[in-house]
Amino acid sequence: MPSYSLICKNILIMLDPKVEKILIEQMAKEAASSALYLSMHSWLEMKGLEGCSTFMFAQAEEERTHMLKLMKYINDSGGHAIIPGVKQPKHSFKNVKEVFQLVLESEMDISSSIHNLVDVCTKLKDYTTLHFLQWYVAEQHEEEKLSRTILDKIEIIGLEGNGLYLFDKEMGSMQVQTEMKSQDAAGAGAA
Ligand code: FEO
Repeated sequence: MPSYSLICKNILIMLDPKVEKILIEQMAKEAASSALYLSMHSWLEMKGLEGCSTFMFAQAEEERTHMLKLMKYINDSGGHAIIPGVKQPKHSFKNVKEVFQLVLESEMDISSSIHNLVDVCTKLKDYTTLHFLQWYVAEQHEEEKLSRTILDKIEIIGLEGNGLYLFDKEMGSMQVQTEMKSQDAAGAGAA
């Protein structure tokens, strides 16, 4: 008699192995992004930049939730979400501008891999995963926009003299806005 797990596997398998593999690779990217942002948080905190460091901590947590969301989807779809190992991230930065330039680069890289996932699922006619990925497409659009807005603020305010203090203060208030956005999203989800 087949085991319960085998029966479940036969009933539940929906994910194409190719889609499962690249979803797991995406989990690794989200985990690496979370580790990089946590490393940035630590460097910024060490420099006494409270607004920027709090902002990066929230971003690191957000990336971790992106990884967990993928994990849940893979397992719920009959796959096996293997937890990725994470390389030690960069831990030292030239200045605050470099930190946020690297954030934008990281977000652009993640957007590109999400778009690749969408391409693969479209070719395989995996409409369920395509639907799931729509959230990531919209999220990446928001995150890239946010990164560009921050770099614009750096250009406008400047980081010399009092500029760094003002920018850090601005990032502290942006953190409040991001938290409000998360609360709105949670409220919408609960409705
Ligand atoms: Fe989850 Fe911003 O990539």
